[in-house]
Amino acid sequence: MNRESTEQQIPSSLIDRFNRRINYLRISVTDRCDLRCVYCMAEDMQFVPRSQLLTLEELFRVGKSFVDMGVRKIRITGGEPLTRRGVMQLFEALGELQGLDDLTLTTNGTLLGRYAQALKDAGVTRVNISLDSLREDRFRRITRIGDIHRTLAGIDAALKAGFKRVKLNSVIMKNRNDDEIHDLVAFAEARGMDISFIEEMPLGDTGDHDRGELYYSSQQVLGDLQRRYELLPTTETTGGPARYYRIDGSDTRVGFISPHSHNFCEHCNRVRLTAEGRLLLCLGQEHSVDLRRVVRANPLDDEPLRRAIIDAMEIKPKGHEFDLTAKPVLFRHMNVTGG
Ligand code: GTP
Ligand code: 5AD
Ligand code: SF4
Repeated sequence: MNRESTEQQIPSSLIDRFNRRINYLRISVTDRCDLRCVYCMAEDMQFVPRSQLLTLEELFRVGKSFVDMGVRKIRITGGEPLTRRGVMQLFEALGELQGLDDLTLTTNGTLLGRYAQALKDAGVTRVNISLDSLREDRFRRITRIGDIHRTLAGIDAALKAGFKRVKLNSVIMKNRNDDEIHDLVAFAEARGMDISFIEEMPLGDTGDHDRGELYYSSQQVLGDLQRRYELLPTTETTGGPARYYRIDGSDTRVGFISPHSHNFCEHCNRVRLTAEGRLLLCLGQEHSVDLRRVVRANPLDDEPLRRAIIDAMEIKPKGHEFDLTAKPVLFRHMNVTGG
């Protein structure tokens, strides 16, 4: 097939069976991490052998194919994405892509001291940093092995690098960190950052706690905050699942990601690529397509890859069905998809 006829077949947007437009791709570049957060991983994890990962060039090929078909936002996730060797190459290549409006990163911050400026220079627009506690001992308990000073230094480095926005992600668990909601917001506000509060999702057994027992809903977080702050609902969106409020008189947006109490699947605009090249159509389901096989069978031609992506839209499920009272339905831990 000649080049011209190939290009004519590329649709300019990806639409699924429920008429949802897919314009957001999350790429997990590694399932490894230098922390072991209790809601995400078990203490002792088996990681994917490095030989089975897509190479950085292959990850770029997939990302580019999505951008060719209308994806406007790519988020790099992990595990901890900055632990993948050579990952800056991928940021630099994606940063050059015409048509990509938003190149973003979700990180635990431990390596931002080293990489923040290079990420900004490569074209990363926004960075989300996980932070569930401001107390050294608690931070260690939640991450099992983390040193809060490294993450705080990473946050400082991100702020200094001058990204468009820096946001904190906090998973709130009853009796673990629900008494820090105000402190986390004050910390974000003092630095001009946004913050999202996340309800814990039951992915994989982490061997730490019963997720039903520690459930703390977004509604409870909002109620706690409203005792101190005037929160104004806003329709602003970052293209992700959060619903935002603004703190009156401040630049800070407070987001709520509420997979249990407020299902957002109807507006889902995203799919995920795992580090092994599996295209996952929903965070809470197993529907997937093996893109690694397609990429490797066609090293010089992206048309079969684009075709496989278009076909995958037909199996994107309607939504997730998380149940906190059941054993995790999905064996997969969150580090496989990076959330
Ligand atoms: P923004 O671009 O800032 O909106 O980021 P984001 O919220 O899309 O991404 P981030 O990596 O910061 O993820 C925050 C939380 O949202 C994580 O816990 C993700 O697992 C969760 N999340 C993102 N997309 C989905 C989704 O489609 N379904 C569910 N259930 N959770 C999601
Ligand atoms: N439920 C909700 N959020 C989770 N994260 C990791 N595991 C879970 C879970 N089981 C969050 C991290 C990170 C984001 C990508 O997902 O805190 O901020
Ligand atoms: Fe690592 Fe992020 Fe999972 Fe924590 S939530 S263990 S930082 S991948």
